[in-house]
Amino acid sequence: MHQGLQDWVDEIAKLTQPDEIVWCDGSEEEYERLINEQVSDGDLTPLNPDSYPNCFLARSDPQDVARVEHLTFICCDKEDDAGPTNNWMAPAEAEARVKPLFEGAMKGRKMYVVPYIMGPVGSDLSEVGVEITDSPYVAINMRIMTRMGKVALDRLGDTGTFVKGLHSLGDLSPDRRYILHFPQRREIWSIGSGYGGNALLGKKCFALRIASTMARDEGWLAEHMLILGLESPTGDVTYVAAAFPSACGKTNLAMVLPPASQKGWKVWTVGDDIAWMRFDDDGQLYAINPEHGFFGVAPGTSLKTNPNALYSLQGNSIFTNVALTDNNEPWWEGLSDPPAHATDWRGNDWTPSSKNKAAHPNSRFTAPAEQCPGISSKWEDPKGVPISAIVFGGRRARTAPLVYQAFDWDHGVYVGASVASETTAAQQGAEVGVIRRDPFAMLPFCGYNMADYFAHWFSIGDRKGAKLPKIFHVNWFRTDEDGKFIWPGFGENVRVLRWIRGRCLDEVDGAETPIGYVPTQEAFDLRGIEEQIPAEVLADLLEINKEDWAPELADQREFFEKFGERLPAEIWEQHAALCKRLGL
Ligand code: GTP
Ligand code: SPV
Ligand code: MN
Repeated sequence: MHQGLQDWVDEIAKLTQPDEIVWCDGSEEEYERLINEQVSDGDLTPLNPDSYPNCFLARSDPQDVARVEHLTFICCDKEDDAGPTNNWMAPAEAEARVKPLFEGAMKGRKMYVVPYIMGPVGSDLSEVGVEITDSPYVAINMRIMTRMGKVALDRLGDTGTFVKGLHSLGDLSPDRRYILHFPQRREIWSIGSGYGGNALLGKKCFALRIASTMARDEGWLAEHMLILGLESPTGDVTYVAAAFPSACGKTNLAMVLPPASQKGWKVWTVGDDIAWMRFDDDGQLYAINPEHGFFGVAPGTSLKTNPNALYSLQGNSIFTNVALTDNNEPWWEGLSDPPAHATDWRGNDWTPSSKNKAAHPNSRFTAPAEQCPGISSKWEDPKGVPISAIVFGGRRARTAPLVYQAFDWDHGVYVGASVASETTAAQQGAEVGVIRRDPFAMLPFCGYNMADYFAHWFSIGDRKGAKLPKIFHVNWFRTDEDGKFIWPGFGENVRVLRWIRGRCLDEVDGAETPIGYVPTQEAFDLRGIEEQIPAEVLADLLEINKEDWAPELADQREFFEKFGERLPAEIWEQHAALCKRLGL
């Protein structure tokens, strides 16, 4: 037995006073028991056993449906170490203000001790965490999302290190909700929310906020990135890691099914949300997916847009805040033609003429990754997969072209630092559809001052002997005058991946523009979609408009100025060089 773990569990039990302590072993029997208890309590609804075997619906509190960025804090000693883009709380204030909320918080409840591994079981890149929670919903979701239970205790042994995560539902009041991170002691406290990234502490809290600080200290990268392998008709596989902000297409791209016109091309899924990456002794960057399941956005997911996601969630999955059909099947906007009647995500009657959405826009499915038909044979490889390209992206109606390639590493880091995107339903409270800067898609997830984070990325470029991946930027979301997406997206995005692969292998051309290289008409395959995307529309999609870039550069300047002296000089050098190339 690990004494440090035992002592911490004792300490938390004394603080929170649960009726009972349950050590989770991760077994099938335990999972069934936890499910049955929640079904009896009315917290889970079993779905149609014929079409959705072993699947359940959960409804969260209507005030608890997404991450709460304004209640998420970094608790390091100095405010400047958290930086201007994070909320900061002094550790002493956390003790005084938030610790009391945990006192007696688990009275009348069970306390679950959930040990888990982030990453493949035998990998050097993996890390252990333990989450203490009074939510059985969290326990069952963690069993899908991580390698949970005995396997983690075995890895921990008697003396291993682990990240502590303390979670309680508290009274679910948004007024007493806090998500706190203590990077120096690698600890997380979360109270007052049972939802996704607020409560499944292995995900954003550990694998990004805490892990990003570990990565800075230890010379690796913890990123909000999908990982995929693009296999060519001749069988070579190019691995790509891509960072898009929340609800901007990572899961969809990670699982993309090439359309019939892309004969012989395959995409293999390694991960859909988080990548941990490290250089090996030969200077090759390798990536693992620290997760074990998908916590994917439901709305918009259909057999047409993302068949592999739909196959992944057909059994053994948990659905949160989707609608329920009269046939006991989950339903959400975009899945299929609306049913004549359903029960909406709040539990109310719903018909197609209702003015509210049937499923919450941030409703999610939790599905085991191994159920994805396109899962890569290397997804659990302890070494990870070798990364050739890093791709950034955002949801931009204008400005950013369909795809471009950075000139070199430093320019690529600047491209990552200047990512911006329209806000989505994945963050609570924010107005949806407003452009905000979201560097590296990490704005809500970086556990330290982002100026230092940019410096960390620049320093990777100076690594002796490193085979640096090529860096790209994509935007699937350009719209026309009527506000309609111009690019068909989804499966057709494989065409963009092919150009990226071609650039990595030095096989295809790029035309130099002020912002980077874009595909030449010859280097971009439009066969099969020429009617929708004739050459002149592709030219529009790739166009760089000075009228858009002038305000864009001003907005970047305003954002970067927030970091003051701490911002790496390279950012300003890149900004100035881009202004000059654009003649601005
Ligand atoms: P998180 O899990 O929040 O990190 O989101 P994500 O980045 O994995 O986003 P996801 O793939 O779930 O997509 C979010 C929304 O964007 C869904 O409604 C999709 O249907 C939509 N979407 C994804 N890819 C495309 C695309 O290529 N074109 C268009 N128009 N929409 C897309
Ligand atoms: C995101 O918001 O980026 C997600 C969902 O992946 S959550 O787990 O809630 O963070
Ligand atoms: Mn995400």
